[in-house]
Amino acid sequence: MKKIVTRDGSETYYNEELYESYHSTSGAAEEAIKKYAEPCRIANFDRVRILDVCFGLGYNSAAALDAFRGKLIEITALENDPAVLDAIYSLDPPFRSYGLIKEAAKNKLCCDGKAVLKIIMGDARESIKTLGAYDFDVVFFDPFSPKKCPELWTVGFFSDIYAAMKNGGVLATYSCAKSVRENLTKAGFEVRDGHCVGRRSPSTLAISRHKL
Ligand SMILES: C[S@@+](CC[C@H](N)C(=O)[O-])C[C@H]1O[C@@H](n2cnc3c(N)ncnc32)[C@H](O)[C@@H]1O
Repeated sequence: MKKIVTRDGSETYYNEELYESYHSTSGAAEEAIKKYAEPCRIANFDRVRILDVCFGLGYNSAAALDAFRGKLIEITALENDPAVLDAIYSLDPPFRSYGLIKEAAKNKLCCDGKAVLKIIMGDARESIKTLGAYDFDVVFFDPFSPKKCPELWTVGFFSDIYAAMKNGGVLATYSCAKSVRENLTKAGFEVRDGHCVGRRSPSTLAISRHKL
């Protein structure tokens, strides 16, 4: 893994096996804020449960912790690579809450009064099966690209995530690929455009509509 500086001045890593960076080169911190925390309206919740799929360097969780103003934020994060958690100690991104991310990377669990962050290590497709149904208000979905990591952008995995979400919950992802949106729709989500950040095409917001 090689450290790089993105265009908003924040650092990320480049994965030299996959030839892909952990964040958009247009701005790593900006991406976490504008494509994940802001469109999921984290600031508006009094209590929120977030599922952070592909925790990586923890920027999306850090952006959510920074944005949160309410009473309780609980984040469950899924990640399968211990090396990426080690890389967290070498970073100093512009998030007030990054100290909590560093603590969670070390202990897999951290609490600070109104925030609880738990990291479950292992293949996200298996970890998701250990989680309860109708539990999450928000999902950050941030794997490597569908080309590099096709196994995570499937109808089957989206269906398992959908089952773990509350009715009306929102999943945010950077991709707007047609195949991704088709798979989200087949899994039951209602798909919308998210913000355009650092490029012309939008990101994606997918709303869970459980038939109650
Ligand atoms: C694009 S990076 C995520 C960046 C991250 N969300 C952040 O804010 O720093 C994708 C992450 O997915 C992880 N990953 C890849 N395959 C996985 C799998 N099957 N289960 C869980 N995590 C996986 C990689 O190790 C990597 O950390």
